[in-house]
Amino acid sequence: MATAQSGGREPFFIDDPALLDDPYAAFARYRAESPVYHHAPVDQWFVFRHGDVSDLFRDPRLSADRMKGFVDQAPEAVRPELRAIVPLFESWTIMKDGPEHTRLRHALNQGFNATAVKALAPLIEASANQLIDERVRDGRFDVADDYGFRLPAHILSDFLGVHVEDRDKIIEWSVDFVDFFNEIPITEATTHRLSRSVSAMNDYTMDLINERRRSPKNDFLGTLLASADTPGGLSDTEIVGNAILLLLAGHIAVRNMIGNIFFLLDGLPEARAQLDANPALLEPMVDEALRFEAPVTLIPRVALEPIEVAGITIPEGALVQLSIASANRDETQFPDPDRFDIARRPGHILSFGRGPHGCAGAHLARMQGAIATRVLLARYPAIRRDEDKPIVWYRTAANRGPINLPMRVD
Ligand code: HEM
Repeated sequence: MATAQSGGREPFFIDDPALLDDPYAAFARYRAESPVYHHAPVDQWFVFRHGDVSDLFRDPRLSADRMKGFVDQAPEAVRPELRAIVPLFESWTIMKDGPEHTRLRHALNQGFNATAVKALAPLIEASANQLIDERVRDGRFDVADDYGFRLPAHILSDFLGVHVEDRDKIIEWSVDFVDFFNEIPITEATTHRLSRSVSAMNDYTMDLINERRRSPKNDFLGTLLASADTPGGLSDTEIVGNAILLLLAGHIAVRNMIGNIFFLLDGLPEARAQLDANPALLEPMVDEALRFEAPVTLIPRVALEPIEVAGITIPEGALVQLSIASANRDETQFPDPDRFDIARRPGHILSFGRGPHGCAGAHLARMQGAIATRVLLARYPAIRRDEDKPIVWYRTAANRGPINLPMRVD
């Protein structure tokens, strides 16, 4: 029978490194026995079934403005520090509801349109080749750190007009943000790092905007600036905030995806052989990897009113965590869900969310996954795990992928 309460004898997955490492059997149990689960130690509600997660992504009774929840959950000592930076987050499309969200997302989509994204394909290919040329050493290549981590930073930096010499700053700031949002509960250390990076990133992006004003161009920032004076156009603060959001949203998740793809193909030689025999499976393989190992595993929302889900009432004000990783393995949606099947063509993966906040960069992400895989496999068909070096995983409650995936290419 469905139960909402924590307190059973087994540890909950967010508290247990072994379960974070491999949570899928636990997720199957949660889907069957406690599809809506209140975890008392952090006072958060977790939702595990595909149907419920999918519906809640589109439910206006849930607010995407999770900063309020986050501030209240931070240690008392750092709440003022966090409150001071909330205004920047408040400008993010990912935090907005209703008409305000529509306005911001519409403006963002103009700069981030299909033609602009498609035009990035040659750049992705060139950057992939450049990283391989520069970073393969003695037949060794870290597919997560040398490749997956750097490729999206290059692409997004170019897209936003970040100077080549500043790409490493982008990487540093992005890690501080991701660590803050992934740490449950929030800690003083991640909050301090976050506030330092917010201020540096804010100044840097404001300089980029001023530069673009001085020498207008028809690129992403140029498009947003040009629409600033039209109805619904964005203010400078909103442009800065959302440019930063793109850098963050589009970085670590892509690294996770690329690492997960190579880890899966290496561990399952029959899938690799199937892909080699039929290159048309490249894109379906990327989607299957996104389903099987979702790079972003958990998305938070705040309940604006009591909401009944699977017979359980989530109270008003609750912080609700939607488990993408569990939904993507739901047997009612994906037959034989624990099988990595590159020919599956999974239709309803929730890896990019769904509904109004569905990922603005899904197309760009899929392109990077496909091109990064094609380029590296073409140059080093015999690529395989470097057994001398360990894989280092980034498996937090909300993220899943390798930080280091050492491979041999000789
Ligand atoms: C594999 C890589 C990626 C994954 C797994 C991913 C996942 C997600 C998810 C789950 C959401 C929904 C958030 C929510 O409902 O609150 C989202 C939203 C978003 N993503 Fe991605 N993402 C990826 C890559 C990217 C890239 C490359 C970009 C842009 C450069 C991007 C930009 C965004 C933005 C701007 C939003 C907010 C949309 C809104 O609130 O309207 N993402 N992403």
